[in-house]
Amino acid sequence: MRFDVLTLFPEMVEGPLRHSMIGRGIEAGRLELGVHDIRTHGLGRHRTVDDAPFGGGSGMVMRVDVLDPAIAAVRRPDSHVVLFEPSGARFDQRMAERFATLPHLVLICGHYEGIDARVREHLVDETVSIGDYVLTGGEYAALVVVDATARLLPGVLGNATSAMDESFSSGTLEYPHYTRPREYRGWPVPDVLLSGNHGKVEKWRREQSLLRTAAIRPDLARKGD
Ligand code: ADE
Repeated sequence: MRFDVLTLFPEMVEGPLRHSMIGRGIEAGRLELGVHDIRTHGLGRHRTVDDAPFGGGSGMVMRVDVLDPAIAAVRRPDSHVVLFEPSGARFDQRMAERFATLPHLVLICGHYEGIDARVREHLVDETVSIGDYVLTGGEYAALVVVDATARLLPGVLGNATSAMDESFSSGTLEYPHYTRPREYRGWPVPDVLLSGNHGKVEKWRREQSLLRTAAIRPDLARKGD
């Protein structure tokens, strides 16, 4: 799978994704990542990318005649083009799973007050938000979406089952994990995990998962009814 990210701040996106599991996935050829500076399509000597809003108001708006060629430079016949906006559809594990089936994702990071609405109307397949809060731009959203999607691709995570067991894939939060030491500052590891009884361990983990979901995310618990 290939990701192309269009941004005014390429360093914000490049750096973090070259590390850890996703960085290794790129090096191993499990995914490809391109990060592109929208300003290379800016207008005139100053490479202008934004302008004042028609109708007045504060802030600047990113121009459609800049984003159009920026998108055209990376778009392929099989591309899925996503624009990040606080007003987009909420990103979740299910959306990550859908994205992970696609051959090519183009991710556009908005900035300033917003993006000319004609980009959303004519040039993108969907708009996505990573949560109900307003960020200064779409770069953090792009990092979240690339990370959550890329880790689902074959061979990106070392242990193939770890992507399946965890929170959200099953509609419940993940059970708690423990490792050595067995006791630390008087805080013991639950006995059942040391019992060697796999049936009991499985049952305990399922219970813990349901208890945590009910306590922390009752909205998820209701969805699973
Ligand atoms: N741009 C600004 N806020 C955002 C959000 N919550 N999600 C995606 N893109 C954004």
